[in-house]
Amino acid sequence: MRAIDEHTITEAALDQMESTPNPRLKEIMAALTRHLHNFAREVDLTPEEWLDGIKFLTAVGQKCTAYRQEFILLSDTLGLSSLVNALHDRRATEAGTKSSLVGPFYRQDSPEMKLGDTIATKPTNGQEICIYGRVFDSAGRGVPNATVQIWQPDETGNYDLQKHDPSEMDLRGTFHTDAQGRFYLRTIAPLGYMIPMDGPVGDMIRAQKRHGYRPAHIHFIIGAPGFREVVTALYLQGDEHIDSDTVFGVTSSLVTQIRDNDPASPIPNLPSIVFDFQLPAARADGSGRVGADPSQIVSKVAS
Ligand code: BEZ
Ligand code: FE
Repeated sequence: MRAIDEHTITEAALDQMESTPNPRLKEIMAALTRHLHNFAREVDLTPEEWLDGIKFLTAVGQKCTAYRQEFILLSDTLGLSSLVNALHDRRATEAGTKSSLVGPFYRQDSPEMKLGDTIATKPTNGQEICIYGRVFDSAGRGVPNATVQIWQPDETGNYDLQKHDPSEMDLRGTFHTDAQGRFYLRTIAPLGYMIPMDGPVGDMIRAQKRHGYRPAHIHFIIGAPGFREVVTALYLQGDEHIDSDTVFGVTSSLVTQIRDNDPASPIPNLPSIVFDFQLPAARADGSGRVGADPSQIVSKVAS
């Protein structure tokens, strides 16, 4: 009989999990257990502190609904979502545009639109802009009929879901590239915003004296048959939080700017953002998606 103490407990737990038939589940659970035990030993965790941790995780779960995913927000604010995205990008077999967080405001059924349409469908005081570019493959060829999903906050930093009835969509749409892989659309310049702070993750951010802001950005999901889907966002240079995003979504290759007088723009009388998205080929073993529509997570758990 083994004596259980603060060191032997880890081997005892790992030994018991040896029976796990699924090898990947076994690997993940063994590593998680080792790291959790090392964490508790490193900080000499007290029972009161662990109870506080359990209360916090309970509150995170209780805050989740079809329109609010507090666990994703926790993963985002700990940098874990961006780390998982970076690992996902590294597994691609070809270069591609870097991933960025999908965030909690994605909806998978945004309205189909024609090239040149505006996604700003409600009255707005925002600065109208054009966004255009190309979707291309590793050989530099345009990808025709690629799906370009876009969503963003308005000029006050609010998404449609935060303003009206969640079934009324605005500032989001689904476009398809032309035969040369080009896309263009009208929208308004977004403002940066604070992540949802009215839950336990907000309490954590305040306890850490972090500002809670995301710099101004526009989200994209780009896909086409035979390619790995790119889930990303473009960030606006000059935003005061561009170097301190609360959820670590910004990387230098995704920072862009709004330019005046761009003669190459398909709508030259509007300020424009130009960005070309590179799609890597799909992997034979499937590629998985970065992030999810939160309403889908809740329904999957319920079913
Ligand atoms: C967003 O970009 O929409 C977002 C991402 C992570 C946390 C909160 C918001
Ligand atoms: Fe966002």
